[in-house]
Amino acid sequence: MAAKDLHKRPFSEETIIKLDIFQKYLESWLPVAIQSRFITEVNICDFFAGIGRDIKGTDGSPIRIIKTIKKFEDNILKQNLKIHILFNEYTPTKCQQLRDCIAEEQETLKNLDSNLSIEIFNLDFKQLFVSKKPLLENHFNLVFLDQSGIKQVTEEIFLDLAKFHRTDFMFFVSSSAFKRFASDTSFQKYFPDIDIHKLSMTSQSEMHRMILQYYKSKIPNDSQLKLYPFTIKKGRNIYGLIFGSNHPLGIEKFLKIAWETNALNGEANFDIDEDWKTSQMVFSFVNRKLSKIEKFQLDLEEFILSKNEVSNKEVYDFALENGHVINNALPVIKKLENKISYAGHHNISYNKCYKSKEIKKFKVL
Ligand SMILES: C[S@@+](CC[C@H](N)C(=O)[O-])C[C@H]1O[C@@H](n2cnc3c(N)ncnc32)[C@H](O)[C@@H]1O
Repeated sequence: MAAKDLHKRPFSEETIIKLDIFQKYLESWLPVAIQSRFITEVNICDFFAGIGRDIKGTDGSPIRIIKTIKKFEDNILKQNLKIHILFNEYTPTKCQQLRDCIAEEQETLKNLDSNLSIEIFNLDFKQLFVSKKPLLENHFNLVFLDQSGIKQVTEEIFLDLAKFHRTDFMFFVSSSAFKRFASDTSFQKYFPDIDIHKLSMTSQSEMHRMILQYYKSKIPNDSQLKLYPFTIKKGRNIYGLIFGSNHPLGIEKFLKIAWETNALNGEANFDIDEDWKTSQMVFSFVNRKLSKIEKFQLDLEEFILSKNEVSNKEVYDFALENGHVINNALPVIKKLENKISYAGHHNISYNKCYKSKEIKKFKVL
């Protein structure tokens, strides 16, 4: 199950998609902490950090973290937010390259000296993660697990992540490798209860969704944790990110980035459900398969019309639960103008539904 070394050649287009999604999420997560009256310190953990950049100088996750912090420097100082960055890289030579790279960058962060601490470790992920559990349990954290391959985010690690209620996390997984290595004894050691038959029956493009379901099935019943996928196809192989958060605002922000990355399906770097292909089949319009957005809008319409009354929060939650941004839900409210009645604005937003809790009822006529 040896994984390729990402740092021996320039980052591929697909690696850059992964890193862009992580960076964009960090850029929308950090301001939430800066603006919150209740958050005074945060941890940003990059447990598989690499060397900082690729061999051509393209920014890797460590430099992206540093640059994002620099971008918000003024507000971090104004609100006096304390930020702890944890970098970890297991290979000693790579870790030294990372230290050199960060030492150079730290010069640009001089103004943040009393607000920012950076620790760089050269440890096996699991050993470090276990030692940092008490810290992560009680803080507001963003954890990035950019493993090569599949074996680091075991059930045990995942269940720990699920317990950290104020932690958003993103992990990378080589999903199609599950298919390739399913019969290896070493694989079965890491994932003893994965359904090997289901693995073999799942098509390549569905593999990341299947792995998402595997992790979803591990979420404890009393947990608020929600998981969302982003499938990344490279050649014949399927990789992907799994994002986890306990908080609707985090989920909304991740989904916004995912839908901006691919406006067709919001969950892959390719036409995973052949939405584009079917939209071109004008000749069979009547029997045409619905696109992901059309299907969701029809489901939402049915959901609303099946009730006597529905609230803005129920519509908001329905969209997030189904992996859609609020903008995909609003045309349904407009379409149902003559079938529902409500006063004033629809109030379907995080702020109205969760922050100011301005609950609005839509009466079904
Ligand atoms: C996919 S790369 C991470 C790339 C990084 N995010 C970047 O942007 O450059 C995974 C890294 O994890 C390191 N690694 C492998 N096994 C590890 C372990 N058990 N603990 C910590 N790091 C490990 C590898 O040496 C490799 O540099």
